[in-house]
Amino acid sequence: MTLADRPACIEILLGYPWTHYAMTEARATRVFDDGLAQGADLRVAVVDGVALGFVWILPRGAFHHSDYIRLIGVSERARGRGVGAALMDAAEGDAFAARRDMFLLVSDFNLAAQAFYRHRGYVQIGALADYVTPGNTELLMRKRWPTPPPPIVGA
Ligand SMILES: CC(C)(COP(=O)(O)OP(=O)(O)OC[C@H]1O[C@@H](n2cnc3c(N)ncnc32)[C@H](O)[C@@H]1OP(=O)(O)O)[C@@H](O)C(=O)NCCC(=O)NCCS
Repeated sequence: MTLADRPACIEILLGYPWTHYAMTEARATRVFDDGLAQGADLRVAVVDGVALGFVWILPRGAFHHSDYIRLIGVSERARGRGVGAALMDAAEGDAFAARRDMFLLVSDFNLAAQAFYRHRGYVQIGALADYVTPGNTELLMRKRWPTPPPPIVGA
């Protein structure tokens, strides 16, 4: 992701489901500014020069052991065309080359995203009530690669 992709990504973050979390343009801008400043693993799907979606991966962000998907979003006008799948493929490709699991949280009310993740092999393994906002539960989902990666020599 570069600065040029930022406006399109901010627009996505101003939509569902982040509307449930009082997202504002200022907050959305800060999210990506912080990510870019930190050199975060933020990737975009670009078609004809326009960012249609993004994914933010935290390497070892789950329990300091496994990769964690912090955010994923696709522009409303580009959904259902494989953009989300391409972003997840990119995130999982790196994660499963080195480690065996990927984790993420999804809100209980976000049934469409839950279906998307289940379709990709994610399984709910936990639930965090009142975690991000009171009254909402975040479902903890995990995908496990069938074969362990080769051992790291010298580790
Ligand atoms: C969830 C989201 C990232 C999916 O991206 P997308 O580009 O619309 O999904 P894709 O077109 O790549 O779909 C990939 C596969 O998942 C399936 N899928 C996608 N949404 C689905 C749904 N709601 N129900 C069932 N299957 C679904 C598709 O049928 C497709 O299957 P196929 O590979 O067999 O054809 C996107 O809809 C989005 O940005 N939603 C709003 C933001 C959000 O909820 N983010 C997650 C927060 S935790």
